[in-house]
Amino acid sequence: MATNRTFTMLKPDAVENGHIGAILEKINASGFRIVAMKKTQMTQADAEAFYAVHSERPFFGELVEFMTRGPIVAAILEKDNAVEDFRTLIGATNPADAAEGTIRKLYATSMGENAVHGSDSDENAAIEGAFHFSGREMF
Ligand code: TYD
Repeated sequence: MATNRTFTMLKPDAVENGHIGAILEKINASGFRIVAMKKTQMTQADAEAFYAVHSERPFFGELVEFMTRGPIVAAILEKDNAVEDFRTLIGATNPADAAEGTIRKLYATSMGENAVHGSDSDENAAIEGAFHFSGREMF
């Protein structure tokens, strides 16, 4: 079933580089409403579970190491067509391929350290949001 929510993480590189405010401003200016948000740090087990779909890929170890090396900002966002519109706002996985003005073009440094996560389907948005937030944390 289609929903109007997506899930995002501002990744450790974005937090380390001081981009939380600028990225949240862009998200806000693009019409997303914040349903839930927190600063947190993923454990190795968290990151391995969150990215389990990539567990056989060669970059998996680096991805888990990166995602656990410092705090992230996790959030659930609401807007019509949230998943697709947020993927457009963040840009391509590799910032070298990301369109001008997208969050990854502006703030990502590499394919591996690409500043922000955005769910790729309504189903995954619900799973990923529930991974980080309980129902009592969603407003
Ligand atoms: P993926 O889900 O394919 O991309 P996206 O985040 O755009 O949905 O991959 C998850 C993360 O894994 C991606 O944000 C960065 C990392 N990654 C690499 O480091 N190397 C790669 O070749 C790929 C495909 C992803």
